Amino acid sequence: MLKIENLKKNYGNLEALKNINLDIEEGEFFGLLGPNGAGKTTLMNIIIGFLNSDSGKIIFNDKIISNHVNSSKKDIGYVPQEISLYQELSAEQNLKIFGKLFDLSGNFLKQKIDEVLDLVELKERKKDSVKDFSGGMKRRLNIAASLLHNPKLILCDEPTVGVDPQSRNAIFDLLLQLNSEGKTVIYTTHYMEEAERLCDRLAVIDHGEIRAIGNLTSLINLIDVKDKLRIIKNSDTEKFISDLKSFGEIYENENHYEVIPNKDYSKLSKLFTDLEKIGFPEEFVAIKKASLEDVFLNLTGRSLRD
Ligand SMILES: Nc1ncnc2c1ncn2[C@@H]1O[C@H](COP(=O)(O)OP(=O)(O)OP(=O)(O)O)[C@@H](O)[C@H]1O
Ligand SMILES: [Mg+2]
Repeated sequence: MLKIENLKKNYGNLEALKNINLDIEEGEFFGLLGPNGAGKTTLMNIIIGFLNSDSGKIIFNDKIISNHVNSSKKDIGYVPQEISLYQELSAEQNLKIFGKLFDLSGNFLKQKIDEVLDLVELKERKKDSVKDFSGGMKRRLNIAASLLHNPKLILCDEPTVGVDPQSRNAIFDLLLQLNSEGKTVIYTTHYMEEAERLCDRLAVIDHGEIRAIGNLTSLINLIDVKDKLRIIKNSDTEKFISDLKSFGEIYENENHYEVIPNKDYSKLSKLFTDLEKIGFPEEFVAIKKASLEDVFLNLTGRSLRD
């Protein structure tokens, strides 16, 4: 559905996108996971046509999206990172303005407005001005605005930042519902939990480069060390710390130790047997499965939250 080939974008000397290649299938929930400044918004803005690339190609439904005229826009919905709403106007008035941008009018527009407000659970607030909305409600209204013209592809740029947990869950449910109804979603985030929960496939992006693409399992399979041990720090466990060094690398955090088992212990059952032998109190040990955070750390040498 969307193919991106050798896309590059510089801002002066800064290479914001180095050489992006992506192939997104119709119906996918595709994630772009990367830290601040990775280039996610730049990529979104180029896809929707708000920004020109320096070189490369974007092919949407077999048509090349040209830099200047983006006739494919009518099939793409965009939820920008920064909320873009008129604060003094009501939810309905805002949606009227967005609808007109897509040449919707009259009864059809009215009907669409009711439909999208219903979807984002803001129908009761239709006549209220946006300035009195919570952060989460504004986000939901911004999502509603992106759906008025019934796009096939929805681009969501970090739509849960600054959102209360209840609205966050409502946004997840809504996007999953839209996806299950056949819409393709591209979702940027720097929260690995969101990427894990929502995305069929994702690209890890850092410093304008895609470092890996795949589903969660294939990404985790890229890294050698899969499972770690987490040991609660207390007087019962601390006396064993020097013994634990023979089991693997130890990292100390505020409340716990993390042990990355060395190769001899690729089977964790052997490790547990040896822990038992030295009399280690096993009630303070847990297995920590590898996560996207580990993948990211492994690929980039940095944490997602740096
Ligand atoms: N208009 C601009 N002019 C100059 N540099 C820019 C501009 N927009 C973005 N950049 C730079 O390009 C890089 C990529 O920025 P971008 O906003 O695409 O990242 P991002 O992944 O969306 O980050 P965030 O998670 O913080 O939103 C950053 O180094 C940023 O400072
Ligand atoms: Mg951004």
